[in-house]
Amino acid sequence: MSQVEKFEKFKSEFNNFLLERIPKTNNVLHKAIRYSLENGGKRFRAYLLFIVGRHFKYSKHQLYSFGAAIEMIHAYSLVHDDLPCMDNDDLRRGKKTCHKKFDEAQALLVGDALQSLAFQLLSSDSIKISSELKLKCIHLIANSIGPEGMVFGQSLDMLYEKKKPNKKILEMIHSNKTGKLISASILLPVLLSNLHKSRYNNFSILAKLLGLLYQMIDDYLDATSNKTILGKNPGNDLNTKKITYFSLYGQKRLKAIIEINFKEIARLAKNLKLPTEFTFLITEMYERIE
Ligand code: IPE
Ligand code: IPE
Ligand code: MG
Ligand code: MG
Ligand code: MG
Repeated sequence: MSQVEKFEKFKSEFNNFLLERIPKTNNVLHKAIRYSLENGGKRFRAYLLFIVGRHFKYSKHQLYSFGAAIEMIHAYSLVHDDLPCMDNDDLRRGKKTCHKKFDEAQALLVGDALQSLAFQLLSSDSIKISSELKLKCIHLIANSIGPEGMVFGQSLDMLYEKKKPNKKILEMIHSNKTGKLISASILLPVLLSNLHKSRYNNFSILAKLLGLLYQMIDDYLDATSNKTILGKNPGNDLNTKKITYFSLYGQKRLKAIIEINFKEIARLAKNLKLPTEFTFLITEMYERIE
């Protein structure tokens, strides 16, 4: 099976697994949750976790459960990110944003519900590991999305709108708002396998770089790509005067920085003996920029 076919197979199986975890009634909240989860999404974080997890020989079911929790959290962050009080976007994954399709109150609640659902799944019997390890995993994820993680990054992202870009602040925003959840997707299976601290640290360096690179590429595409490819409205960062890697470095320099970081991640992955699937996934991500 080719790498593309493997990724497609994963997405199809994983999406079924994910949607089975959502209440199926026609209640507006339940419909809005389903709408926000089933509408595409590259499933980058879930596949990343799956690849690293399979490398450490964890079962599919276990990894789908962890991946589903992470994609629920990610979807919640997007639903809130699109709200009028945040980025005020009306297109996401090629469809109306949740608050446009339903309304703002429901979108706010969809985010809240998805977050709870993620922790409900993480703490459930679906994940068959010791309670002690499970707690460690829950702690890692909670840490990566709370006031020292994603939500912190989002807060700074809003506060620094219309401000002059500065490398230090930008790195802090991006590594928190996007970097930490991506890092957690890599580090969770590493944590489970109880590696020696120095090896864990090597994974951690790679995870941080990848998280940052992911948002660099998102910034690049916001300024250079189009609606059909992105499934979201490009140019929003410029309209809202966000500080981004594109506004700090411009297209040419950013492209060069992305290339350097991509090569460094590929080098680290080779040292860590990560499988071909990993190289495939990061190359797919990298090649989204022209
Ligand atoms: C978009 O994430 C927001 C960022 C954190 C960069 P993705 O580009 O992974 O969005 P989906 O899940 O594929 O729609
Ligand atoms: C969003 O960053 C990061 C999170 C949702 C945590 P962006 O605001 O750049 O994401 P897009 O471009 O709307 O997908
Ligand atoms: Mg945003
Ligand atoms: Mg946004
Ligand atoms: Mg963006």
